[in-house]
Amino acid sequence: TWSAVPAGPPDPILGITEAFKADKDPRRINLGVGAYRDEHGKPYVLNAVKKAEEKIAAAKLDKEYLPITGLPGFTSNAAKLAYGADSVPRNQNAIAVTQSISGTGALRIGGTFLARHYPHSKTIYVPTPTWGNHIPLFKDSGLEVKYYRYFDKKTVGLDFEGLKEDLQNAPEGSIVLLHACAHNPTGVDPTQSQWKDISDIIAEKKLFPFFDMAYQGFASGSTDRDAFAVRYFVSQGHQIALSQSFAKNMGLYGERVGAFSLTTASEEERKRVDSQLKIIVRPMYSNPPLHGAHIANTILSDPELYQEWEGEVKGMADRIINMRERLYQLLSNDFRTPGEWSHVKSQIGMFSFTGLNKEQCKVLAEKAHVYMTMDGRISMAGLNGRNIEYFAKSVDAAVRG
Ligand code: LMR
Repeated sequence: TWSAVPAGPPDPILGITEAFKADKDPRRINLGVGAYRDEHGKPYVLNAVKKAEEKIAAAKLDKEYLPITGLPGFTSNAAKLAYGADSVPRNQNAIAVTQSISGTGALRIGGTFLARHYPHSKTIYVPTPTWGNHIPLFKDSGLEVKYYRYFDKKTVGLDFEGLKEDLQNAPEGSIVLLHACAHNPTGVDPTQSQWKDISDIIAEKKLFPFFDMAYQGFASGSTDRDAFAVRYFVSQGHQIALSQSFAKNMGLYGERVGAFSLTTASEEERKRVDSQLKIIVRPMYSNPPLHGAHIANTILSDPELYQEWEGEVKGMADRIINMRERLYQLLSNDFRTPGEWSHVKSQIGMFSFTGLNKEQCKVLAEKAHVYMTMDGRISMAGLNGRNIEYFAKSVDAAVRG
């Protein structure tokens, strides 16, 4: 029956973890998937999460189904975290929110909702490059994917002129995917003043902004600061779609906790949108999982745990920033590796887009047991005091050929 099914390629990001696991060399390093590791290279369960789990266990909750759009306290707190306590549509009860299977699930619900109900276009523009999964995900949702310029290889920074030109030339009404902070894979974000210009173009061209906020707190260490773009757009009167993930900022990767939301014009409109979100979710997975939503909700609604969590997010962000500084010093000063490496320091969030080419990435995997995605992206969180010198030395050797 399945003789005509062709073998597909491994996933460009999660496939790296499989290759890493098969390598038994003690020096092996996994810089593929964006998952935080502590200074000993170990996965990190946040103290705020452990304490929330203790509270949940003590409450002896039942295991009943959640409503189709998830745990109401969680969705309300997730929206507050993203939009801010004083957000106008939030206070008007005009934000439709559904819990989702983390950020990917949120994007998928959003893509499907837009494909079904957005009246002006079926095309979504994504940045070049973007998170690899955005492309199949939106295509599978029923949208056509097109691209706008984002990254300038020459300056290893934002191609702001290219970005503006491409958005200006996009047909009126098109959907635009924006990374709210800590752009994946490049680590290059627009400045606040550039966000204002982007907001103006989007208003002028009547484009529809869809924000992917997978790293709130991870870019700067502050959840408020990282929500700047989302809140600014809403304050300018844009209606937006938003995908949120709690995988990175609460370390809830495998719990799959996220939210998808849409700002609407009124409470009455919000109710109609809510009903359609339910119609999308119900045949897909019926209703979302319970435990992770309880964890996130417990943290977001308990002032003490919230404070501890914010401190831990900052701790993770700061450790990554330290690794950036150290890697820059090693490449630039200690090994004098050919090339310019200051972007390692200036990039933001979980990743550095090193500029290493596919051949060099292959050499690093085959000769040095160092695994990263083939576009030269490294997860900074995979580096620590014990492996960073070996990594820098291996990069130096790969660059020199
Ligand atoms: C990544 O880009 O590594 C993360 O967003 C994890 C994933 O699912 O790809």
